[in-house]
Amino acid sequence: MLALASDHGGFALKQAVIEHLKERGIPYKDFGCYDEKSCDYPDVAAPACDAVVRGECDKALLFCGTGVGISIAANKINGIRACVCSDYFSAKFTRAHNDANALCLGGRVVGPGLAVELVDVFLDTPYEGGRHQRRVDKLTALEERERNRTTN
Ligand code: RB5
Repeated sequence: MLALASDHGGFALKQAVIEHLKERGIPYKDFGCYDEKSCDYPDVAAPACDAVVRGECDKALLFCGTGVGISIAANKINGIRACVCSDYFSAKFTRAHNDANALCLGGRVVGPGLAVELVDVFLDTPYEGGRHQRRVDKLTALEERERNRTTN
């Protein structure tokens, strides 16, 4: 199960990706937005990412105008490793090396044809583990550091 979310800037691209997921028979839950009315990307990123952190969804696909704002929002949520991608190599290796669990795409950056290629390689590339696990563990340790932060 995938968690999907977009603001208005990513709405049309999300709709194109939804059509692709339907063709592939991949189940998803859409956490909004549901039309092109202006909305704020942190508001839609949070429930989609929460579903991933709770284990109700395996990964998130997130969309805004650039993919950047929604990736920043997603990376504020403990347990989320989100990457904004507009090239195939990054979409592949953020899975293989970073064990990314959220792919962020910019509706004003990539077209639907490239977007579905990025989604496919992101979904189909396994995490390699091994030497990368130490680094991913250090990302998790940074979350713990921030939870415990009292001063600079
Ligand atoms: C909304 O206009 C736009 O700022 C948003 O979609 C996104 O690109 C932010 O990073």
